[in-house]
Amino acid sequence: MVGKLNHVGVATPSIAESQALYRDLFGAADITPRTALPEQGVWVSFVNLPNAQIELIEPYGEASPIHAFLSKNPKGGQHHVCFEVPDILAARDEMRAKGAAVLGTGGPRTGAHGVPVIFLHPKDTGGVLVELMQEPAAGH
Ligand code: CO
Repeated sequence: MVGKLNHVGVATPSIAESQALYRDLFGAADITPRTALPEQGVWVSFVNLPNAQIELIEPYGEASPIHAFLSKNPKGGQHHVCFEVPDILAARDEMRAKGAAVLGTGGPRTGAHGVPVIFLHPKDTGGVLVELMQEPAAGH
């Protein structure tokens, strides 16, 4: 069963510019530094909101999965939404049993929060790229 909305992923050609936007336009005060995740081909930064996060993602390297999105959306845009689930493997199996395609091999990989994640193909989820992530352990 789906849990909390953890974050909304926003692709951007420049995390620095997006950080400035969230800080200056919206007054967001808690924004994490731009950090490289080479295995995932992205730079990330989190805008911490009272109830969720905005995950800013910028391409890292030539093979970044974000390049295709930015070629269609040069100014950036909403990329995915992420819901927490209590058990990522059970969620993956349930999604498949219900006919939703899991991207890649479906073996959960470690996401930006250090917990396992999967992505569902937008063709099965109303056009929205959906990330499911294992609930972070208590205290996070
Ligand atoms: Co995400």
